[in-house]
Amino acid sequence: MSLEKTKELANGSIIPRLGLGVWKVQDGEEAVNSVKWALQAGYRLIDTAAAYKNEASVGEGIRASGVPREKIFVTTKLWNADQGYDSTLKAFDESLTKLGLDYIDLYLIHWPVEGKYKDSWRAMEEIYKSGRAKAIGVSNFHEHHIKDLLKEAKVVPMVDQIELHPTLTQEPLRKFLAANKIAVEAWSPLGQGKILEEPILVEIGKKYNKTAAQVIIRWHLQSDSIVIPKSVHEERIKQNFDVFDFELTDDDIKRIDELNTNERLGPDPDNFDF
Ligand code: A2P
Repeated sequence: MSLEKTKELANGSIIPRLGLGVWKVQDGEEAVNSVKWALQAGYRLIDTAAAYKNEASVGEGIRASGVPREKIFVTTKLWNADQGYDSTLKAFDESLTKLGLDYIDLYLIHWPVEGKYKDSWRAMEEIYKSGRAKAIGVSNFHEHHIKDLLKEAKVVPMVDQIELHPTLTQEPLRKFLAANKIAVEAWSPLGQGKILEEPILVEIGKKYNKTAAQVIIRWHLQSDSIVIPKSVHEERIKQNFDVFDFELTDDDIKRIDELNTNERLGPDPDNFDF
């Protein structure tokens, strides 16, 4: 199976299937270097958020990489405290300023804050229409949040970024998203590094001379998810991108799917207090 490196979103935007996530990457040298190394290694998608407090360094890393802006797909996210119509417009401008960019490729509502996400979405639609965000979407939305949003939305979210890894495979939500042409993006795709010693993943990797991290990334890609592993180490950043020269069999994929325990590492979007 040849695997395309990009995917077309419902609005025609082209998103790379594999990117660098920078949650927990420290502002300053760590974020600048990680972004620069990733872009120099061939990554073309960087996923940040206002809440990660590293947007300025992400922008700096982009500029330091030498890769032209238009070749890079930049995602950032609206923080919970900024939800609401006016405050979303303001928060978006602040993110642009911090990143030092004049447009974002994908702007996401970070969490479904009850009573606020519909107003935030109206502002996201404005931003999208203005061309300053080329695509818009949500993160951490369950099926019921999306159904509720769609009652009033004029633009259907193009992406839902959710916690997704071999121990939380989210089958029902993924089916719903696929049926609605909403692309799935996986956060904490490596289970925050906690599942890299899982014997089944290591054993599958040995067949292909690949690490457990590479096996997991390939599993996401072959499951049609967009995947954004985080690392601050150049060797690992390169390793995580070196996944386009092997292919998991249906049996490998089935064995990885069976690692599902439905256990979250992060909060349940129905029960968060931030
Ligand atoms: P580090 O940043 O020190 O390299 P996730 O993307 O699921 O959140 O996982 C990120 C975690 O996995 C981080 O702790 C990261 O550590 C670690 N990690 C990322 N890539 C690799 C890799 N190829 N091998 C080992 N650990 C990795």
